Amino acid sequence: MKTAKRDFLKLSDLRADEIVTVLDHAKAMKNQRLTGGRRTPLAGRSVALIFEKPSTRTRVSFEVGVYELGGHPVVLSSRDMQLGRGESVEDTARTLSGYVHAIVIRTFGQERVEALARWAKVPVVNALTDEHHPCQILADLMTVREARGRFEGLRYAWVGDGNNVARSWVEAAGLFNLPLTLASPEGYELPASELPAGVKTVRDPREAVEGADVVITDVWASMGQEDEAERRRRAFEGYLIDPALMARTSRDAVVLHCLPAHRGEEIDAVYLDGPDAVVWNEAENRLHTQKALLEHLVR
Ligand code: CP
Ligand code: NVA
Repeated sequence: MKTAKRDFLKLSDLRADEIVTVLDHAKAMKNQRLTGGRRTPLAGRSVALIFEKPSTRTRVSFEVGVYELGGHPVVLSSRDMQLGRGESVEDTARTLSGYVHAIVIRTFGQERVEALARWAKVPVVNALTDEHHPCQILADLMTVREARGRFEGLRYAWVGDGNNVARSWVEAAGLFNLPLTLASPEGYELPASELPAGVKTVRDPREAVEGADVVITDVWASMGQEDEAERRRRAFEGYLIDPALMARTSRDAVVLHCLPAHRGEEIDAVYLDGPDAVVWNEAENRLHTQKALLEHLVR
Protein backbone atom coordinates (compact mmCIF):
# COMPACT_ATOMS: atom_id res chain seq x y z
CA MET A 1 0.00 0.00 0.00
CA LYS A 2 1.24 3.48 -0.84
CA THR A 3 1.79 5.60 2.28
CA ALA A 4 0.76 9.27 2.29
CA LYS A 5 3.52 11.71 1.42
CA ARG A 6 4.99 13.66 4.31
CA ASP A 7 5.52 17.42 4.29
CA PHE A 8 7.60 19.56 6.65
CA LEU A 9 5.78 22.88 6.71
CA LYS A 10 6.29 23.50 10.41
CA LEU A 11 8.40 21.77 13.06
CA SER A 12 5.40 19.97 14.59
CA ASP A 13 4.78 18.19 11.27
CA LEU A 14 7.34 15.73 12.64
CA ARG A 15 6.77 13.89 15.93
CA ALA A 16 9.35 14.41 18.67
CA ASP A 17 10.74 10.89 18.15
CA GLU A 18 11.11 11.54 14.41
CA ILE A 19 13.06 14.73 15.10
CA VAL A 20 15.40 12.77 17.37
CA THR A 21 15.84 10.17 14.60
CA VAL A 22 16.65 12.94 12.09
CA LEU A 23 19.17 14.50 14.51
CA ASP A 24 20.84 11.14 15.19
CA HIS A 25 21.09 10.48 11.47
CA ALA A 26 22.42 14.00 10.82
CA LYS A 27 25.18 13.42 13.37
CA ALA A 28 26.09 10.08 11.80
CA MET A 29 26.23 11.71 8.35
CA LYS A 30 28.33 14.58 9.70
CA ASN A 31 30.85 12.06 11.03
CA GLN A 32 30.73 10.00 7.83
CA ARG A 33 31.41 13.14 5.79
CA LEU A 34 34.62 13.70 7.74
CA THR A 35 35.82 10.19 6.99
CA GLY A 36 34.82 10.38 3.32
CA GLY A 37 32.06 7.75 3.56
CA ARG A 38 29.27 8.36 1.05
CA ARG A 39 25.77 6.97 0.57
CA THR A 40 23.47 8.07 -2.24
CA PRO A 41 19.87 7.54 -1.11
CA LEU A 42 18.61 10.22 -3.55
CA ALA A 43 20.31 8.69 -6.60
CA GLY A 44 18.10 9.26 -9.64
CA ARG A 45 15.92 11.78 -7.74
CA SER A 46 15.60 15.52 -8.29
CA VAL A 47 14.63 18.16 -5.75
CA ALA A 48 13.30 21.64 -6.67
CA LEU A 49 14.56 24.43 -4.43
CA ILE A 50 12.40 27.54 -4.90
CA PHE A 51 13.43 30.89 -3.43
CA GLU A 52 11.05 33.85 -3.30
CA LYS A 53 13.35 35.59 -0.79
CA PRO A 54 17.16 35.85 -0.60
CA SER A 55 19.19 33.11 1.09
CA THR A 56 22.79 32.08 1.61
CA ARG A 57 22.80 29.24 4.14
CA THR A 58 19.51 27.58 3.21
CA ARG A 59 20.16 27.76 -0.49
CA VAL A 60 23.71 26.43 -0.45
CA SER A 61 23.13 23.80 2.25
CA PHE A 62 20.11 22.35 0.42
CA GLU A 63 21.84 22.42 -2.97
CA VAL A 64 25.00 20.78 -1.64
CA GLY A 65 22.94 18.44 0.54
CA VAL A 66 20.89 17.08 -2.37
CA TYR A 67 24.08 16.63 -4.39
CA GLU A 68 25.78 14.79 -1.53
CA LEU A 69 22.79 12.45 -1.23
CA GLY A 70 23.30 11.55 -4.89
CA GLY A 71 20.32 13.59 -6.12
CA HIS A 72 19.96 16.49 -8.52
CA PRO A 73 19.08 19.92 -7.06
CA VAL A 74 17.09 22.27 -9.30
CA VAL A 75 17.58 25.74 -7.81
CA LEU A 76 14.91 28.21 -8.86
CA SER A 77 14.52 31.87 -8.09
CA SER A 78 10.85 32.80 -8.37
CA ARG A 79 12.01 35.81 -10.41
CA ASP A 80 13.00 33.40 -13.18
CA MET A 81 9.84 31.31 -12.90
CA GLN A 82 6.30 31.89 -14.10
CA LEU A 83 5.56 31.95 -10.34
CA GLY A 84 7.19 35.38 -10.37
CA ARG A 85 4.77 36.49 -13.11
CA GLY A 86 1.68 35.40 -11.22
CA GLU A 87 1.34 31.68 -11.96
CA SER A 88 -0.24 30.19 -8.85
CA VAL A 89 1.57 27.98 -6.34
CA GLU A 90 -1.14 25.39 -6.96
CA ASP A 91 -0.33 25.16 -10.68
CA THR A 92 3.40 25.28 -9.93
CA ALA A 93 2.96 22.37 -7.50
CA ARG A 94 1.10 20.24 -10.05
CA THR A 95 3.65 20.95 -12.76
CA LEU A 96 6.74 20.30 -10.63
CA SER A 97 5.24 17.07 -9.25
CA GLY A 98 5.67 15.59 -12.70
CA TYR A 99 9.41 16.24 -12.66
CA VAL A 100 10.86 16.21 -9.15
CA HIS A 101 10.69 14.02 -6.04
CA ALA A 102 10.49 16.85 -3.47
CA ILE A 103 9.96 20.61 -3.39
CA VAL A 104 11.73 22.93 -0.96
CA ILE A 105 10.38 26.49 -0.88
CA ARG A 106 11.24 29.78 0.82
CA THR A 107 8.39 32.23 0.52
CA PHE A 108 6.22 34.82 2.27
CA GLY A 109 2.95 33.68 3.85
CA GLN A 110 2.62 30.21 5.36
CA GLU A 111 -0.54 29.78 3.27
CA ARG A 112 1.68 29.63 0.16
CA VAL A 113 3.60 26.56 1.37
CA GLU A 114 0.34 25.03 2.55
CA ALA A 115 -1.25 25.51 -0.88
CA LEU A 116 1.86 24.13 -2.56
CA ALA A 117 1.83 21.06 -0.30
CA ARG A 118 -1.89 20.49 -0.87
CA TRP A 119 -1.43 20.33 -4.63
CA ALA A 120 2.01 18.69 -4.83
CA LYS A 121 2.21 14.93 -5.13
CA VAL A 122 5.71 15.00 -3.60
CA PRO A 123 6.95 16.08 -0.14
CA VAL A 124 7.17 19.83 0.43
CA VAL A 125 9.69 21.41 2.83
CA ASN A 126 9.34 24.92 4.27
CA ALA A 127 12.69 26.68 3.87
CA LEU A 128 11.33 29.76 5.72
CA THR A 129 8.08 31.64 5.62
CA ASP A 130 7.00 34.79 7.43
CA GLU A 131 5.59 32.49 10.15
CA HIS A 132 7.95 29.51 10.47
CA HIS A 133 11.57 28.42 9.92
CA PRO A 134 11.49 24.74 10.93
CA CYS A 135 14.73 23.67 9.17
CA GLN A 136 16.62 26.21 11.28
CA ILE A 137 15.43 24.61 14.50
CA LEU A 138 16.66 21.15 13.44
CA ALA A 139 20.15 22.65 13.06
CA ASP A 140 19.81 24.57 16.31
CA LEU A 141 18.83 21.48 18.30
CA MET A 142 21.80 19.60 16.81
CA THR A 143 24.10 22.47 17.74
CA VAL A 144 22.88 22.54 21.34
CA ARG A 145 23.34 18.78 21.56
CA GLU A 146 26.92 19.10 20.32
CA ALA A 147 27.72 22.00 22.65
CA ARG A 148 26.01 20.66 25.79
CA GLY A 149 25.66 16.91 25.16
CA ARG A 150 21.85 17.09 25.11
CA PHE A 151 19.07 19.54 24.31
CA GLU A 152 16.50 18.25 26.76
CA GLY A 153 16.71 19.27 30.41
CA LEU A 154 18.09 22.73 29.57
CA ARG A 155 16.57 26.19 29.99
CA TYR A 156 16.03 28.34 26.92
CA ALA A 157 15.66 32.09 26.41
CA TRP A 158 14.65 33.93 23.25
CA VAL A 159 15.56 37.62 23.18
CA GLY A 160 14.08 39.73 20.38
CA ASP A 161 11.32 39.66 17.81
CA GLY A 162 8.44 37.18 18.05
CA ASN A 163 9.17 36.13 14.49
CA ASN A 164 9.31 33.02 12.32
CA VAL A 165 12.38 31.54 14.07
CA ALA A 166 10.87 32.30 17.50
CA ARG A 167 7.63 30.56 16.52
CA SER A 168 9.50 27.45 15.38
CA TRP A 169 11.40 27.46 18.69
CA VAL A 170 8.08 27.66 20.55
CA GLU A 171 7.03 24.56 18.62
CA ALA A 172 10.24 22.81 19.69
CA ALA A 173 9.50 23.75 23.30
CA GLY A 174 6.01 22.29 22.94
CA LEU A 175 7.21 19.05 21.37
CA PHE A 176 10.00 18.41 23.87
CA ASN A 177 8.67 20.22 26.98
CA LEU A 178 11.58 22.64 26.96
CA PRO A 179 11.30 25.54 29.43
CA LEU A 180 11.47 28.62 27.19
CA THR A 181 11.07 32.29 28.09
CA LEU A 182 10.80 34.87 25.32
CA ALA A 183 11.59 38.54 25.87
CA SER A 184 10.09 40.87 23.26
CA PRO A 185 9.12 44.53 23.27
CA GLU A 186 5.45 45.44 23.38
CA GLY A 187 3.80 44.82 20.02
CA TYR A 188 6.50 42.40 18.86
CA GLU A 189 5.67 39.37 21.01
CA LEU A 190 4.11 36.10 19.88
CA PRO A 191 0.42 35.85 20.82
CA ALA A 192 -0.10 34.20 24.23
CA SER A 193 -2.59 31.83 22.58
CA GLU A 194 0.29 30.23 20.64
CA LEU A 195 2.37 29.42 23.71
CA PRO A 196 2.29 25.89 25.15
CA ALA A 197 2.67 25.15 28.87
CA GLY A 198 6.16 25.99 30.09
CA VAL A 199 6.63 28.80 27.57
CA LYS A 200 6.11 32.41 28.60
CA THR A 201 6.82 35.91 27.34
CA VAL A 202 8.27 38.75 29.39
CA ARG A 203 9.39 42.27 28.51
CA ASP A 204 12.77 42.32 30.24
CA PRO A 205 15.59 40.37 28.51
CA ARG A 206 17.34 40.11 31.90
CA GLU A 207 14.41 38.19 33.31
CA ALA A 208 14.32 35.87 30.27
CA VAL A 209 18.00 34.90 30.39
CA GLU A 210 18.24 34.44 34.18
CA GLY A 211 19.79 30.97 34.62
CA ALA A 212 19.31 30.08 30.94
CA ASP A 213 21.54 27.46 29.28
CA VAL A 214 20.74 28.52 25.73
CA VAL A 215 20.10 32.11 24.60
CA ILE A 216 18.73 32.66 21.10
CA THR A 217 18.24 35.78 19.05
CA ASP A 218 17.64 36.90 15.48
CA VAL A 219 17.48 40.12 13.48
CA TRP A 220 14.96 42.75 14.53
CA ALA A 221 13.69 43.32 10.98
CA SER A 222 13.09 40.15 8.98
CA MET A 223 13.04 39.86 5.21
CA GLY A 224 10.08 41.86 3.94
CA GLN A 225 10.19 44.25 6.93
CA GLU A 226 13.00 46.46 5.61
CA ASP A 227 10.70 49.53 5.70
CA GLU A 228 10.19 49.05 9.43
CA ALA A 229 13.91 48.73 10.26
CA GLU A 230 14.30 52.17 11.86
CA ARG A 231 11.14 51.92 13.95
CA ARG A 232 12.14 48.44 15.06
CA ARG A 233 15.67 49.59 15.96
CA ARG A 234 14.11 52.03 18.42
CA ALA A 235 11.61 49.51 19.79
CA PHE A 236 14.28 46.85 20.39
CA GLU A 237 16.74 49.10 22.20
CA GLY A 238 18.04 47.15 25.21
CA TYR A 239 17.52 43.74 23.56
CA LEU A 240 21.21 43.29 22.69
CA ILE A 241 22.84 39.99 23.66
CA ASP A 242 26.10 41.12 25.23
CA PRO A 243 28.42 39.99 28.04
CA ALA A 244 26.47 42.05 30.63
CA LEU A 245 23.25 40.23 29.76
CA MET A 246 24.99 36.87 29.50
CA ALA A 247 26.44 37.33 33.02
CA ARG A 248 22.95 36.35 34.25
CA THR A 249 22.82 32.97 32.47
CA SER A 250 24.09 29.62 33.69
CA ARG A 251 27.77 28.83 33.17
CA ASP A 252 28.74 27.83 29.62
CA ALA A 253 25.49 29.11 28.18
CA VAL A 254 25.26 28.77 24.41
CA VAL A 255 24.32 31.72 22.16
CA LEU A 256 22.50 30.83 18.95
CA HIS A 257 21.76 33.09 15.98
CA CYS A 258 20.39 31.74 12.69
CA LEU A 259 22.33 34.42 10.73
CA PRO A 260 22.70 36.75 8.98
CA ALA A 261 23.45 38.94 12.03
CA HIS A 262 23.94 42.62 12.72
CA ARG A 263 26.94 42.94 15.03
CA GLY A 264 26.28 45.39 17.86
CA GLU A 265 22.56 45.57 17.08
CA GLU A 266 20.91 42.36 18.34
CA ILE A 267 24.16 40.52 19.15
CA ASP A 268 27.62 41.49 20.38
CA ALA A 269 30.41 40.52 17.96
CA VAL A 270 32.02 38.24 20.57
CA TYR A 271 29.28 35.62 20.02
CA LEU A 272 30.15 35.55 16.32
CA ASP A 273 33.89 36.14 16.30
CA GLY A 274 34.99 34.92 19.73
CA PRO A 275 36.60 31.53 20.42
CA ASP A 276 33.41 30.09 21.95
CA ALA A 277 31.09 31.12 19.10
CA VAL A 278 28.86 28.24 17.99
CA VAL A 279 26.98 30.09 15.24
CA TRP A 280 29.26 28.80 12.47
CA ASN A 281 28.70 25.24 13.58
CA GLU A 282 24.99 26.10 13.78
CA ALA A 283 25.16 27.26 10.14
CA GLU A 284 27.08 24.12 9.10
CA ASN A 285 24.53 21.91 10.83
CA ARG A 286 21.89 23.15 8.39
CA LEU A 287 23.58 20.89 5.83
CA HIS A 288 23.63 17.75 7.97
CA THR A 289 20.12 18.10 9.40
CA GLN A 290 18.52 18.89 6.01
CA LYS A 291 20.23 15.89 4.43
CA ALA A 292 18.78 13.72 7.20
CA LEU A 293 15.39 15.39 6.80
CA LEU A 294 15.28 14.80 3.04
CA GLU A 295 16.22 11.17 3.52
CA HIS A 296 13.41 10.87 6.07
CA LEU A 297 10.79 12.43 3.79
CA VAL A 298 11.68 11.42 0.24
CA ARG A 299 10.69 7.87 -0.58
N1 CP B 1 19.56 31.13 8.62
C1 CP B 1 19.17 31.19 7.33
O1 CP B 1 18.13 30.68 6.95
O2 CP B 1 20.06 31.84 6.51
P1 CP B 1 19.82 32.23 4.98
O3 CP B 1 18.77 33.33 4.96
O4 CP B 1 21.15 32.70 4.51
O5 CP B 1 19.35 31.03 4.24
N1 NVA C 1 13.82 36.13 10.79
C1 NVA C 1 14.74 36.19 9.70
C2 NVA C 1 15.47 34.90 9.54
C3 NVA C 1 16.48 34.86 8.43
C4 NVA C 1 17.13 33.53 8.27
C5 NVA C 1 13.97 36.54 8.42
O1 NVA C 1 12.88 36.01 8.22
O2 NVA C 1 14.49 37.35 7.63
